[in-house]
Amino acid sequence: MKQFYLKFFVAITFILGSEFTTVAQTQDTVWLSSLDLSKATLGWGTPGTNVSCMGHPITLDGVQYAKGFGTHANSILYIRLNKGSQRFSATIGIDDEEKLSTGTVIFSIYGARQQLWKSSILKSGEPVEKFNINVSGIDTLILLVEGTSDGISYDHADWANAYFLVSGDKPVTVNRKMEEAIVLTPKAPLTPKINGPKIYGVRPGHDFLYKIPVTGQRPMNYTVSDLPEGLKLNLNTGVISGKVSKPGRYEILLTASNKLEKSSRKFTIVVGDEIALTPPLGWNSWNCFACAIDQDKVKSAADAMINSGLADHGWSYINIDDCWMVQPESNDPVLGGKTRDDKGNMNVNKKFKDVKSLTDYVHQKGLKIGIYSGPGPKTCAGYTACYQHEEADAKQFADWGFDYLKYDWCDYERIAKDHSLPELKKPYVVMHQALDKADRDIVYSLCQYGMGDVWKWGAEVGGNCWRTTGDISDDWSSMDGIGFSQAGHEKYAGPGHWNDPDMLVVGMVGWGPELHPTRLSPNEQYTHISLWALLASPLLIGCDMTQLDEFTYGLLTNDEVLDINQDILGKQAGRLVQLENMEIWVKDLEDGSKAVGLFNRGMFSGKIVLKWSDLGITGKQTLRDVWKQEDIGVYQERFETEIPPHGVKLIRILTK
Ligand code: GAL
Repeated sequence: MKQFYLKFFVAITFILGSEFTTVAQTQDTVWLSSLDLSKATLGWGTPGTNVSCMGHPITLDGVQYAKGFGTHANSILYIRLNKGSQRFSATIGIDDEEKLSTGTVIFSIYGARQQLWKSSILKSGEPVEKFNINVSGIDTLILLVEGTSDGISYDHADWANAYFLVSGDKPVTVNRKMEEAIVLTPKAPLTPKINGPKIYGVRPGHDFLYKIPVTGQRPMNYTVSDLPEGLKLNLNTGVISGKVSKPGRYEILLTASNKLEKSSRKFTIVVGDEIALTPPLGWNSWNCFACAIDQDKVKSAADAMINSGLADHGWSYINIDDCWMVQPESNDPVLGGKTRDDKGNMNVNKKFKDVKSLTDYVHQKGLKIGIYSGPGPKTCAGYTACYQHEEADAKQFADWGFDYLKYDWCDYERIAKDHSLPELKKPYVVMHQALDKADRDIVYSLCQYGMGDVWKWGAEVGGNCWRTTGDISDDWSSMDGIGFSQAGHEKYAGPGHWNDPDMLVVGMVGWGPELHPTRLSPNEQYTHISLWALLASPLLIGCDMTQLDEFTYGLLTNDEVLDINQDILGKQAGRLVQLENMEIWVKDLEDGSKAVGLFNRGMFSGKIVLKWSDLGITGKQTLRDVWKQEDIGVYQERFETEIPPHGVKLIRILTK
């Protein structure tokens, strides 16, 4: 890439005793946009070299800039200066492509573990800010753009006209250093241990399917006492199936035994109107395979969920995302063809040979299976969707045996008159009514990225969960921006209806045929899983489960973490404390204890103090480290600890 330099001769005057000596020193101008900006992480869009994150010319407050770095909050870029640069200067603001929106960002610059400079809050359509700061002696400079409390929507931020004055080593962008990946989750004991949710909802007369999640040495035997009429247990596999016609609350006792021990746990089956009484736990094909999904990969995912042992911790849904249908107007031999058969039923593309055999395959393992579509004529990726066929399609999904439907707005944008509440709700009501007519429990997952504050009305249109944000990606900016913007949504979550901040991005992900290990650091992955557990979010694994490494497996199989997510009170954590980059989130649990996440969103490790007075508790309290599954000790009034950058301490304050 072409380098842009300007030579400067700077006269530096030293005072030596009483004599004046003048030394001429050469300084080069190195434009920020001449560096490799692909190393930046962005909350949305693509790092722009001399263009915005959407690829438009960088324009701030009516002025176009030839040079600059177009980015999107939250954005981080690490630059190794090696003490070679003296000054860094730029003009910053929100790009005019979002002039009429409500973007708000803060720019900041860190070096030598300190904040070197911070902007005021910059808003869409407002004047730019300029800076010119001293960076001499700095090894690594960190450029940050963060959203404010309103989230990261429309936060198209530009570092325009940004350049370094350099007299030594040239600046280069670098990947940040990652900490060691330490597995905190203890190995499951060989003795039987029953895991997973403690409550399960099913509608009267509808199919019930539940595989008792048990860790421990095989072979394992299962018994269940007080099973309601209509259900039966497979003694070898621990799968309970059947139909219960009589509404009611059935308290049963699950027992698992192996040659070492016998273990029991209470389980409640609620036969009534509500399903998804705890957040769904499963897998979805999108974050790993996207449109490279096919029938064999779905089968392999189901095999892996069982064989890896994930199912023994309560994971149960295998959800197919986009790209299983026929592509309208396509001549592709695999994807093209007739979109529907003569009866109007949707056809699948040639990567999916026989859907019914696939759903049977998954069900035979005691797992459940999900499908994806949308209210528009096409899906997001351009495949056939449900528009004007909703009732027939809902029936077909049910006949095929699907247990979960993700229903994605996307192409319905062409149909909707506007984004008024009635228009936003309409397609979701139509599909809900269609699903209601189908003779099957199908978890209804709304996907429309949070438009119209969907959390306020998602339950009213029949949603069991609803995406609250745009798509997640496997970087800190995205995960942090999405996760921590959930504050305030907690009052809308509860059994049967959950806020969904999107699927997990740990393990091998890739959105296509090529997969890569998540770009989140180990600490960031602990933050991700801890926060999603506290948020009572549906947990949908987004990686290839056939390639689970030990660290990822540890993240996904910590029963005490999963118990927080699956707690039967169904409370979503709220933000209790926000002090600069430190945040404390608290979730009340059914047994009266509290799960507390102590998070450090900052770039450097720091102390955090949890005060009993903030929690409304007093006296001595026993604290448990949830990831390590061990008690930390008894504390009075407060608990203070050091949290690494982007890290978390997940604790549980036990009831006395
Ligand atoms: C997006 C959705 C993603 C994925 C994708 C499929 O709209 O948010 O999660 O489902 O569509 O095309």
